[in-house]
Amino acid sequence: MITSPQAGAVLEINLAALAANYQILRARAGGTECAAVMKADAYGLGVEQAGPMLARLGCRTLFVAHLGEGVALRQILGSEPAIYILHGPLPDAVDEFLAHSLIPVLNTPEQLAQWARKGQSEARPLAAALQVDTGMNRLGLTTTDAAALAAAPERLAGIDLRFLVSHLACADQPEHALNLEQRQLFDRLRAAFPLGPASLANSSGIFLGAGYHYDLVRPGAALYGVNPTPGQPNPMQEVVRLRGSILQVREIDTPRSVGYGATHRVTGPRRIATVPVGYADGYLRSLSGQGVGCLAGVLVPIVGRVSMDLITLDVTEAPPDAARPGAMIDLIGGRGESIDAVASRAGTIGYEILTSLGRRYDRRYVGAAAGDDAGTREAGNV
Ligand SMILES: Cc1ncc(COP(=O)(O)O)c(C=O)c1O
Repeated sequence: MITSPQAGAVLEINLAALAANYQILRARAGGTECAAVMKADAYGLGVEQAGPMLARLGCRTLFVAHLGEGVALRQILGSEPAIYILHGPLPDAVDEFLAHSLIPVLNTPEQLAQWARKGQSEARPLAAALQVDTGMNRLGLTTTDAAALAAAPERLAGIDLRFLVSHLACADQPEHALNLEQRQLFDRLRAAFPLGPASLANSSGIFLGAGYHYDLVRPGAALYGVNPTPGQPNPMQEVVRLRGSILQVREIDTPRSVGYGATHRVTGPRRIATVPVGYADGYLRSLSGQGVGCLAGVLVPIVGRVSMDLITLDVTEAPPDAARPGAMIDLIGGRGESIDAVASRAGTIGYEILTSLGRRYDRRYVGAAAGDDAGTREAGNV
């Protein structure tokens, strides 16, 4: 990763806030075990830093999407935690799962058969989770596949089934009818399999109530500060703060346009600041003319198009002595808008903003020591 202290933009990642969020979610889950979803490099925030922090807090079950992500996480965290691979084993990858003690989430009859064969050839049952599709229509055994399996449980020989898993499609909309439908179908499928532990809830699912918690909850986005209860106050702490420094300030007195496509027209006397953050850094182009920053406590709008490496903001309303080269403008978090608000302006979700965050920023991990302290506190105290 090319991070650069000279980037002119600072991405601060607060590990104490991450730790607090894990504890908040664990407390909300009551006595249910709280796993952590760390795919896509901990949603873009850095698995090397986030993984050890969560492990120190006692998180012992982790989920990633890809085998490679699991191998990397195993190297970082050692042999202790259970690491589940949501995509399951691709053909020919089974040996690598065993070499790194990774546990597949089995999603198809083919993955199931492959894993069972391997367990039989090893003469020991191999750990796995089994995903059933209860309404997402994306990954997991269909209801028909699940019924066929329930009628032929010998197909599970060679597999040490740890969890029956499903995934909610609309957990961030508590009133959506599909939540209860998925839960009821999940219960019916659980009754058909004598499998024991079950897991259904993602971040938002935890807030749907205890009936959705089962034996393991699997939050991702909320750990990293995204609001799991859209439309309600965010119960999570802010993990990410992005600031960009002003490169140049231009006083415009006569009518002119700003940026590519001349989409923004300045008529009166205005002051325009240029900041070295662009769509190559994950500051999405759809924020053109939509985003806002915060300079010295004053909201300053993005004007004109977001380009690859630069944005332009109208800083006329900020105190003139604040609008100078080198001054920092909050773009996400801090005194600026939340990640969810930025996402909404960009026409997307906080997840996409997080996982798009660029690699050129001066990345600073703060609060690690505070996170250590948090680790010694009881979950309910946070
Ligand atoms: C199967 C599964 N479980 C849990 C999660 C975590 O979801 P969230 O980030 O909404 O908490 C994901 C993420 O997409 C997922 O695919």
